[in-house]
Amino acid sequence: MERVVSGIRPTGKLHIGNYFGAVANFLKMQHEYDCFFFIADIHSLTTHPTPADLHNNVKHVLAEYIATGLDIDKCTLFIQSDVPEISELYTYMNMNAYLGELERSASFKEKVRLNPDNVNAGLLTYPVLMAVDILVHRAHKVPVGKDQEQHIEMTRQFGKRFNRLYNVDFFPEPQAFSYSNALVKVPGLTGVGKMSKSGGEADAIFLADDESVNSKKIMRAKTDEGPKKQNQPKPVEVQNIFDLMNLVCTQDVIEKFDSDYNACNIRYGDLKKQLAQDMEVFLKPIRTNINDALKNDELLAKAAKIGAEKARASASQTLKDVREIIGFRKFY
Ligand code: ADP
Ligand code: TRP
Repeated sequence: MERVVSGIRPTGKLHIGNYFGAVANFLKMQHEYDCFFFIADIHSLTTHPTPADLHNNVKHVLAEYIATGLDIDKCTLFIQSDVPEISELYTYMNMNAYLGELERSASFKEKVRLNPDNVNAGLLTYPVLMAVDILVHRAHKVPVGKDQEQHIEMTRQFGKRFNRLYNVDFFPEPQAFSYSNALVKVPGLTGVGKMSKSGGEADAIFLADDESVNSKKIMRAKTDEGPKKQNQPKPVEVQNIFDLMNLVCTQDVIEKFDSDYNACNIRYGDLKKQLAQDMEVFLKPIRTNINDALKNDELLAKAAKIGAEKARASASQTLKDVREIIGFRKFY
């Protein structure tokens, strides 16, 4: 069976960009593939969280994974730092990644721009660690949002380079995956770019937040002064609202607002109210599950333990083979 790997950094609560870009695919894939889904807590060290924040964020994402419907009997759900084989393979793969290509990574350049005072080596080699997450299970498919496409391309490079260097056909070439035609990019509420935690509180709708918080954010989302001529293309911020509606509203509701827009009699207040209502219908059961899971320490402990065991079994087999391929052969 084809293997699947994907992870999310625990930097706070999950937002609907994470859900529709990544988790929604996980939920379906767990029934069709051999899946490894994890919490990328080593990755999150690049931003130096306090130990308490790190732990709480890992706990929150674990609860959110379970609350959205990931089934620990169907997939392997684990915490990255529970699998030391990942750090070992990272050491080896770093010998095979070049400064120039790492400096050219779009996410590295973006992080340098946003945080010029914290350009640490972990940030530079972030794509190597991410590649290792995928390669350590010799995965074929990686469900991620559009923003991760370049990282998957780099993963293929590193895997192919290893295969070439040692003249083996060991690592498969993983592909970014989404059940929709293209990789998903959920827009933020503030009108620029993708929805993101780093875009500030107002930009993202979080799975765990209360209805009142989410509705207020949606009602404040940027629009324009309204269409002046019939049947014109929508400006980005208005298109963003329609893109968000596409995630949670029925087709007839979207068509109604679309034809109102084209006829120049759209009321943005009504549009956003509808979006807020349908978002709440979608989020309410998930939020209830998150709160239940967060209170269930026994469930979280069981999930993490079983996941760690399954992930280590897979990763240690890869490392055994990698050590042999590299030439670390035992004298004893
Ligand atoms: P953030 O950008 O908020 O820090 P992450 O980088 O931790 O989120 O993303 C984790 C997963 O969620 C990745 O697969 C990423 O592609 C996906 N993702 C994040 N934001 C979006 C978005 N706005 N649209 C689609 N997918 C997204
Ligand atoms: N870099 C991803 C992000 O920021 C998270 C991630 C880490 C990941 N390792 C991965 C995603 C492996 C898929 C596969 O969103």
